[in-house]
Amino acid sequence: MATNITWHAGLTHDERAQLIGQKGATLWFTGLSASGKSTIATALEQFLLQQKINSYRLDGDNIRFGLNKDLGFSEQDRNENIRRISEVAKLFADSTTIALTSFISPYRADRDQARELHEKANLPFVEVFVDVPVEVAEQRDPKGLYKKARAGEIKEFTGISAPYEAPANPEIHIHSATTSIEDAVRQIVDYLVANKIINL
Ligand code: ADX
Repeated sequence: MATNITWHAGLTHDERAQLIGQKGATLWFTGLSASGKSTIATALEQFLLQQKINSYRLDGDNIRFGLNKDLGFSEQDRNENIRRISEVAKLFADSTTIALTSFISPYRADRDQARELHEKANLPFVEVFVDVPVEVAEQRDPKGLYKKARAGEIKEFTGISAPYEAPANPEIHIHSATTSIEDAVRQIVDYLVANKIINL
């Protein structure tokens, strides 16, 4: 058995934040498929990194193809998808990164659970509603999925044959059909500065 070892209670978020000079937070993007979540989150990630503020985006590409590749789009699977993403985002935030999650996250209860998880850990949680009329998303249809959903080739497609519960009280509300990407990024950055989550 090892002797002369002491148990080390890890660093707290505040200690990390002080050492690295940056606080962590989770920015939870929610909205329909093709609403612009990932486009805005990517532009924001780029802006933050340019300012030397560490940020990382979690999205379908790096989560649904990896950690969550066992999950589909039933209500139950979407609940589990969001539960795992909430836990991962919380760890990123705790590590002092600005975590950007970019998922439809259609159920209010799931998003509220993500919020609670962060609040319990004393980490900022900012819900960003990327709001677009379903007709506009359907017209954009960059992946041709709305078309397939209308044709009945994709079941339980959000906005067509599965629900999307819009946030009642998001911290940030972006009307993506009428807002440029730059303005959306500015809207979010202004919020982060005003709420002392980042310093520019
Ligand atoms: S969530 O509802 O569980 O939050 P998530 O954001 O991870 O969804 O994945 C949504 C993406 O998966 C969509 O942008 C789309 O490209 C694809 N997708 C495939 N099937 C569906 C479906 N039935 N409903 C919504 N999106 C789907």
